[in-house]
Amino acid sequence: MNFTCPVCREALAEEEKLYRCEKGHCYDKSKFGYVNLLQSQKSSAKRHGDDRVMIRARRDFLDKGYYGFLRDALYENCNEFLQSGASVIDAGCGECWYSSGIKQKLNENVKKISFYGVDISKDALEFASKRKSGIPAAVASVFDLPFNDCCADLLLNVFSPEADSEYLRVLKKDGIMIRVIPLEKHLFELKAAVYEKPYLNDVPETNVVGFTLIRTQKIRKAIELGSNEDIQNLFKMTPYYYKTSKNDQSKLDSLDRLKTQAEFEIRVYRKD
Ligand SMILES: C[S@@+](CC[C@H](N)C(=O)[O-])C[C@H]1O[C@@H](n2cnc3c(N)ncnc32)[C@H](O)[C@@H]1O
Ligand SMILES: [Zn+2]
Repeated sequence: MNFTCPVCREALAEEEKLYRCEKGHCYDKSKFGYVNLLQSQKSSAKRHGDDRVMIRARRDFLDKGYYGFLRDALYENCNEFLQSGASVIDAGCGECWYSSGIKQKLNENVKKISFYGVDISKDALEFASKRKSGIPAAVASVFDLPFNDCCADLLLNVFSPEADSEYLRVLKKDGIMIRVIPLEKHLFELKAAVYEKPYLNDVPETNVVGFTLIRTQKIRKAIELGSNEDIQNLFKMTPYYYKTSKNDQSKLDSLDRLKTQAEFEIRVYRKD
């Protein structure tokens, strides 16, 4: 599988310092290793990826392993559905924390799986590239993925935008989409520490046009945050961070420990 050229849609061949299509369009790799395939005139309305504060917070939080139980569950699902030689797209990959760990475990299991990461945030891909996990990564929108039709065996959609028609397009027939969403009480105690009236999360419908839902798996864990830094990082990596007044945010400053519920649903779909 290859990235495709955003100008002519031909496959891009990877060279040491750049990607090139047969028509001669070239895209330099950044010094970190990712490639920018975002056409500046396109998709400006949908270009609001995560910023550096969120990304650094998420990287530091995830690297502490608090969500290791979710990554393990994702690995189990990937392992079940992937044969050696398969290709996976991590759509809205962020810092590739999930996909790099899953890839490593699959490799230990002697499965050769190619992963590709796409995110609209350059900062996220800078951190992803620094993981040196061998996952080629491109700055692009999940609503206009730089891949041919029917090229991938599996697509990961972990807390990223639900660009369903695009996910349908790039998956092979019978391809698998694995979606992760937060459940009602996800991080409830964290919200209760900040808001007077914390609300429950809305859980979206399961129906996705063009796909059959083949599995849902709810996973829950009470996570014990052991420092103020971890609490602040968890808060900063959520969408609440920018919606919360400085006054409410400061309620976290005095907390050094917090136990909060993490709960997710893994939804596995097969392309019809
Ligand atoms: C909540 S983060 C999840 C990141 C990663 N999947 C994880 O769970 O660690 C959502 C990611 O989607 C990216 N994103 C948002 N809109 C996007 C778009 N239109 N195209 C590609 N990525 C997008 C953000 O930059 C961010 O990295
Ligand atoms: Zn081209």
